[in-house]
Amino acid sequence: MKDSYGRNIDYLRISLTDKCNLRCRYCMPKCGVKSVAHADILRFEEIERVVRIMAGLGVKKVRLTGGEPLVRKNITSLISSLASVRGIEELSMTTNGCLLGDMVKELYAAGLKSVNVSLDTLDPAAFTRLTGVDALHSVLEGIDAALACGMKVKLNCVPVKDVNDKELTRIARYGAERNIPVRFIELMPLGPGAEFTGIATDDIIGGLSEELGELKPEAPEYPGAPAVYYRIGPTGSVVGFISPMSHKFCACCSRIRLTAAGYLKLCLQYPDGVDLKGPLRDGVDDEGIKRIIRSAVYKKPKAHSFGSTGNNDNRDMYEIGG
Ligand code: 5AD
Ligand code: SF4
Repeated sequence: MKDSYGRNIDYLRISLTDKCNLRCRYCMPKCGVKSVAHADILRFEEIERVVRIMAGLGVKKVRLTGGEPLVRKNITSLISSLASVRGIEELSMTTNGCLLGDMVKELYAAGLKSVNVSLDTLDPAAFTRLTGVDALHSVLEGIDAALACGMKVKLNCVPVKDVNDKELTRIARYGAERNIPVRFIELMPLGPGAEFTGIATDDIIGGLSEELGELKPEAPEYPGAPAVYYRIGPTGSVVGFISPMSHKFCACCSRIRLTAAGYLKLCLQYPDGVDLKGPLRDGVDDEGIKRIIRSAVYKKPKAHSFGSTGNNDNRDMYEIGG
């Protein structure tokens, strides 16, 4: 599936719910969130159908996100069915990790082999301040449980000034001790994120290399991969950087997003896209849905311009799923 700029779209991120059991200050609005009505959330059979149709259009990678995907009931059954869709080569999840300890074995058995866990801080008090919940211990247990059952784990950390900027070396070391990559993600000015100050990748690299020694760039995982990895000199471990603000990777973007309410969103910044829930529920056949997806994807915007114009969609990160 190609867009009008010739980019090959083969990666679908699916937000399973706009609900979350944490309230990260840079993600969830202070005044509370307007929750999507249950009836407006795509049902599992609708998600499965979209994934099957997308696989027919060349989508090979699916990532489940949220909100927090693990608060969606019966998620294991969805994973089993998505894992068996022909053409889907990679099924993964981005989670805050709070519920992972209890669920990881059944998730793994159902076919989930890879998780990205958000870890912004290793300080219990800072975690509570940032997320509103005293749950760092559950996240850390979740990470270890995932590793113990053989799951591939990556850690995501969003460096934010005056929140966790003094801890980045410690977090990199935590990953190194477990031999799992930590990826530092530049804060994007979406929703409440706009009220915080992120840290540019070059500054993070500067800080880490002062304390850990030289960082040597690695070859990219695949051409155009958003994360750029570096090996930390003496430890041999790896840290990654995802730099949507300072090193835009839009020219190689291969992804589209499905919101929990069934809206196919083409770029994080813009509202452009198409509602799929209506057609799915109105009895449109697979060929019809395919046409709707193809013509929407063709119109994927060229690039975000967060650096200059801020956010142009009224959907926040917890609705879109990172
Ligand atoms: N900018 C960058 N990353 C964000 N996340 C949430 N909001 C933002 C933002 N404004 C991250 C979370 C989590 C992932 C799902 O998205 O920290 O790791
Ligand atoms: Fe929940 Fe993730 Fe948003 Fe934190 S960043 S409130 S864990 S959706």
